[in-house]
Amino acid sequence: MTIEHDEHKVLEAAIEMATNEEMIGRQDVNDLESILAVSTVDRGEVISAVKNNADTIFTWDYEKGARPSLEKLYEKSKVSMWNGETDLPWDTEVDQEAVVIANQEAMGMGMGVAGFDTAGTPFEKWGDKEWLQLGVESQNWMLSQFMHGEQGALVCTAKIVETVPWIDAKYYASTQVMDEARHVEVFAKYLDTKLSGHYPVNAHLKLLLDDIVSDSRWDMTYLGMQIMVEGLALAAFGFMHMMTTEPLLKQLLRYVMSDEARHVAFGVLSLQEYYKGLSDAEIFERQQFAFEAAVRMRDRFLQQEVWERMGMPVKQSIELVQLAPGREVFQAMLFSKIVPNCKKLGLLDRNDKWLRRRFEELGVIQFEDWTDTSEEYINFALTDEDVRTA
Ligand SMILES: [Fe+2]
Ligand SMILES: [Fe+2]
Repeated sequence: MTIEHDEHKVLEAAIEMATNEEMIGRQDVNDLESILAVSTVDRGEVISAVKNNADTIFTWDYEKGARPSLEKLYEKSKVSMWNGETDLPWDTEVDQEAVVIANQEAMGMGMGVAGFDTAGTPFEKWGDKEWLQLGVESQNWMLSQFMHGEQGALVCTAKIVETVPWIDAKYYASTQVMDEARHVEVFAKYLDTKLSGHYPVNAHLKLLLDDIVSDSRWDMTYLGMQIMVEGLALAAFGFMHMMTTEPLLKQLLRYVMSDEARHVAFGVLSLQEYYKGLSDAEIFERQQFAFEAAVRMRDRFLQQEVWERMGMPVKQSIELVQLAPGREVFQAMLFSKIVPNCKKLGLLDRNDKWLRRRFEELGVIQFEDWTDTSEEYINFALTDEDVRTA
């Protein structure tokens, strides 16, 4: 038997063994009971330590521009910095309840018009007050998770500065670290001064961030953060930016998105080169990582902590809300950047279309031919008008 033949056998066995049970701890990706078994335990701790197992890499090759697409991104980044304290209209008065009502009306959700029959359900006795409270809590939850995700990006990108072997990538990543500090800062300020409460980091999001930080392979940080977490953030911010009627949040999201599109591009442009040189077995590990990350992010959006805080039966409430009109479309839409970027990286179809089949199972494959983000960041750049209206 040849060595190649042996390697192929090992890979086949690995693919065979990669069951959902093995990867995400449950056979059915939609098994709500198992999803909810992973829940946030808030022990009131202020810090959380995670072991970073990656080597720190120095490079003595200082040739700037050896990777022209990364150099271009770096130069663009240097002139795109904004100041979270002075460039946003923080003096805007925000009436959170009024904003929530306007959003719920625009989406046809909440306020008793959730589109499903509440008779015989835990929502039976809900009136305007409870639907409004749900909207307020959901907004506090959503913005809190964005803030935690932004800190994840801050930490992960600092890790990339240390671990990536290319000088152009170290340069670019250093500018992203500054961007992410600004993002954490503005989301935290918005929560503290305009909204009405914080939520601790969601357990599914934290598991994903821990996986990314603890992985020893430098490219996994990019895949987990730039491609998956930031790809999802870019889609979610875009949706929220389109929906919200609150001018300060709209402006804040516009600014953050202009950076975020560059970050996703950084992931696509860096990994595109690296993945070309990987074997099927190595690509299979990346495919699995992408799938696990996708499932964790989908689980997180069930916002189980909101139902707990509202004193509602969590599983039953989620099952009902899942039936609301637009819900499925919203959940799928979160993957509208991730799927085309995975395709661009060649991750969908290697190993007998392994990731394509997983994305089919998650109901998100329809985005595969949407615009990928390798060049799209140019369209997201701030214009003179964006800056003037701030
Ligand atoms: Fe960010
Ligand atoms: Fe980012």
